[in-house]
Amino acid sequence: MRTARMHLNESPFEPSKLVSTYVSKYVSALNLYHVDELEREFLKKLSNYVKLPEEYVGVFPSSSEALTSIIRLCKSRGLRLSSVWPSFHGFIEFAQMEGTSVDLINLIPEFFELDLAKIAREGSSSKALYLSNPNNPTSNMLFQDLETLEFLINRFGLVIVDEAYFEFSRFTVADKVKNYDNLIVVRTFSKAFSLAGARVGYAVANPELLEELKRCTALFSTSITSLAAALGALEDLKYMEEVVSKTIELREELRKSLEEIGLSTLDSRTNFLFIKLPTSGRSVAKYLAERGIKVRSYEDEIIRNYIRVSISSRENNLSFLRALHEYLKR
Ligand SMILES: Cc1ncc(COP(=O)(O)O)c(C=O)c1O
Repeated sequence: MRTARMHLNESPFEPSKLVSTYVSKYVSALNLYHVDELEREFLKKLSNYVKLPEEYVGVFPSSSEALTSIIRLCKSRGLRLSSVWPSFHGFIEFAQMEGTSVDLINLIPEFFELDLAKIAREGSSSKALYLSNPNNPTSNMLFQDLETLEFLINRFGLVIVDEAYFEFSRFTVADKVKNYDNLIVVRTFSKAFSLAGARVGYAVANPELLEELKRCTALFSTSITSLAAALGALEDLKYMEEVVSKTIELREELRKSLEEIGLSTLDSRTNFLFIKLPTSGRSVAKYLAERGIKVRSYEDEIIRNYIRVSISSRENNLSFLRALHEYLKR
């Protein structure tokens, strides 16, 4: 049975052709730990893309590793971790692996918006706040104004904004790291750049904070071929933009079809949909899995009647829709 991978928010499109060109160019340098010229060129291109000077941008072997290093930094600064919830589960797992826990601040149910009153009560200069914007798994924007950012910045010792889906939302606070020394923005090549398997991410922060962060990760941890792959992807922004617009087109097609069968989704600014069901997400996910369609469901009470579905090829999206409709008609 063919499997439709709609559970990890991977891109259904292959990487740009330039990725293999660049990887081939650097394969013969794999005897080395690092290649200065490649690192310099990549950082130059990336800082151009982020629209910030190079000293504000740090490369990590995935945004997951950047988040893990941030957790280590928080530990060394004595900052307690908190996160809005529901949010990216990885953050909590990475914290557990580092031997620490995360205080959860619930979003307002149904529309999954920030509860600013609750956040204000929980806020403290001895805490760090993590949020993903747009949010995973709910797919919506948690804020799109600078007043909210300022509100958070003024209430926490450190604010971590995960912009894994920035290319789909087009809203960023990366440029604000120039104004605030307690803001870190994290991004990845795993989504819009179709490079999940290369494991390349980056953090953006003011240079002093970034230097402290880099000391929380091992030297030479991003592989030469992964950097080359990411450089190839950055050299072909046109291709990335095509991937994003095709994904959004497929997402909107699927959203409309779901509406036609009476299912609502949150306003997605990502490469996935968060779908509300009349039943538990777990039973739906199990039914779909038996038909070769993998989607994400949740045990957590506030979202147990939801599934998260990554946008895939049109064919997979249609198979998903048909199987889901079948389940609901039973
Ligand atoms: C919000 C968020 N952050 C981070 C990640 C992890 O990305 P990476 O592949 O860079 O580790 C994901 C992956 O799904 C995500 O949704």
